[in-house]
Amino acid sequence: MVIALILLPIRWHIDLQPWASSSHSLDSEAIRFLRYITTTQIICSHRIKNGQTDQSVDASKPWTVCLDEKFNLAHQIRNKQCRVYSLGLGEDDNNFEVNMASRGCEVHRFDPSIASTQIHEGERLWHHRLSIDWRDPKPAIATHKLHITTKKLGTILNEFGHWKIDVLKADMESAEWKILENLILEGVVEQIGQLIFEIHLHWPGFEVSGNDSSVVRYWYSLFKELERKDFKLFYTYKDLSKPQRFLKKEIYNASSCYILSWVNTRWT
Ligand SMILES: *[C@@H]1O[C@H](CO)[C@@H](O)[C@H](O)[C@H]1NC(C)=O
Ligand SMILES: *[C@@H]1O[C@H](CO)[C@@H](O)[C@H](O)[C@H]1NC(C)=O
Repeated sequence: MVIALILLPIRWHIDLQPWASSSHSLDSEAIRFLRYITTTQIICSHRIKNGQTDQSVDASKPWTVCLDEKFNLAHQIRNKQCRVYSLGLGEDDNNFEVNMASRGCEVHRFDPSIASTQIHEGERLWHHRLSIDWRDPKPAIATHKLHITTKKLGTILNEFGHWKIDVLKADMESAEWKILENLILEGVVEQIGQLIFEIHLHWPGFEVSGNDSSVVRYWYSLFKELERKDFKLFYTYKDLSKPQRFLKKEIYNASSCYILSWVNTRWT
């Protein structure tokens, strides 16, 4: 018997895009990046905000999925096979999670601030006291710690035996860049059907370094990696209730906070 082992090359860093201009100025990087995050790439005609059909009564953040028939999510919901992961840090607004669960999705919410290690609420909603990180804890630390509360998403998928996530929602207060980088480098992003990220632009983010132009070029390069994997942006929302600041400055009429939704078009 021949067992075929497919060895995927390990990637250590993402591919950086060329600079937007030869001057490497913040202006040119920022204009390119802001144009990118405010321009949808594919039309979704059946967008659902917070899992609700009635959009009028909803004042919470617009976590948006696409239920167009040409994408997989609508079928998965109909067949009660959809799985949603939600990554957060002490978010009290659970409308999205509760509504997706009542639509028949299996919803896993990961949040280090919940009271017990695991709460099973209703038939389809789980709360896990876990924080998603872009690296696993060091083994030396892990063995000394009774409760490991930090894991990579890929590790959790393996432990749960989940091959696919239909929707990944992430509200990670500036850890989103390194988490997204980790999902790209480890190929985990290919296991995801739709992505909804809140992104934060008032500072570079955790463990993102370099001057302002390099930071914006890095952010942009992450999204170009998604695009290369055929993720298409179908929803973009500028949060006007947050400070209107971009890398600590009031410039480019930008907000410090946007919510973006992509669909993996290889999953159709
Ligand atoms: C920022 O740093 C990069 C790489 O270190 C450099 O190429 C670039 O010229 C710098 N940009 C500015 C505006 O100083
Ligand atoms: C700034 O952004 C707001 C909200 O998106 C928009 O209504 C306004 O027209 C923008 N102003 C300029 C000068 O672009």
